[in-house]
Amino acid sequence: MDQTVITIRRARRVDAQSIAAVHDAAWRDAYRGLIPGRELERMIARRGPAWWDAAIARGSRLLVLDFADEIGGYASYGRNRVPSLPHRGELFELYLAPHFQGLGFGRKLFEAVRADLADNGYPSLLVWALEGNERALAFYEGLGGKRVRCAPEQFGHETRERIAFGFE
Ligand SMILES: CC(C)(COP(=O)(O)OP(=O)(O)OC[C@H]1O[C@@H](n2cnc3c(N)ncnc32)[C@H](O)[C@@H]1OP(=O)(O)O)[C@@H](O)C(=O)NCCC(=O)NCCS
Repeated sequence: MDQTVITIRRARRVDAQSIAAVHDAAWRDAYRGLIPGRELERMIARRGPAWWDAAIARGSRLLVLDFADEIGGYASYGRNRVPSLPHRGELFELYLAPHFQGLGFGRKLFEAVRADLADNGYPSLLVWALEGNERALAFYEGLGGKRVRCAPEQFGHETRERIAFGFE
C-alpha cells in the first residue's frame, strides 16, 4: 500500500525552487483582483528561487510542508516588527499551494510556527492579512486571533488595508 509521509520541517537550500513555485501559485490565487496586476507580477518576480535560496542560506526561520515528492506550503516567521504592539513573535507569511488548501494543513503549519516561536521565547504572535482576503481572515479568526490593528499598505498608486491578528 502506498503511504505518503507528510512532514513539517525547516527549509533546506534544495527547496528554494519548490518554495518559489508555491509562492507564485498561492499569491496569484490569493491576490488576483485584490492587488493591482502590475504590482502583483512585480512582487512575484522578485521572489524567485534565488531570493528563497538566499533567505534559507542566511538562516531565516522558514518551515515547509513536505509531501515527500512535493512542497505543499511554507511559513516564515520571526520577531514582531511593530514595536508598539506587545506581541513578541510574528508570522510573516503562511502560504499553501491551491490544491493543498482547505485540508487542515494551514492549521498544522500555524501550530508548528507557534510552537517554535514559544520554544524560542516568543509566546505571543502577530500576523497581518490583507482586507479582502476572506479565506485568510476567516482562517486567523477561526484559530482564535483577535483583530488588534489596521494599517494602510501602498501598492503602486493604490492603497489597501491590512489587518493584524494577535494571538496571546
Ligand atoms: C489561509 C490558508 C493558510 C489556510 O490554510 P488551510 O489549510 O486552507 O486551512 P485549514 O484547512 O487548516 O483550516 C483551518 C480553519 O481555518 C478556517 N478556514 C479555512 N479556510 C476557510 C475558508 N475558505 N472559509 C472560511 N473559513 C476557513 C476554518 O475555521 C478552519 O477550521 P475547520 O477546519 O475547523 O473548519 C490557506 O488557505 C492559504 O494558503 N491561502 C492562500 C494564501 C493566503 O491567503 N495566506 C495567508 C496570507 S496572510
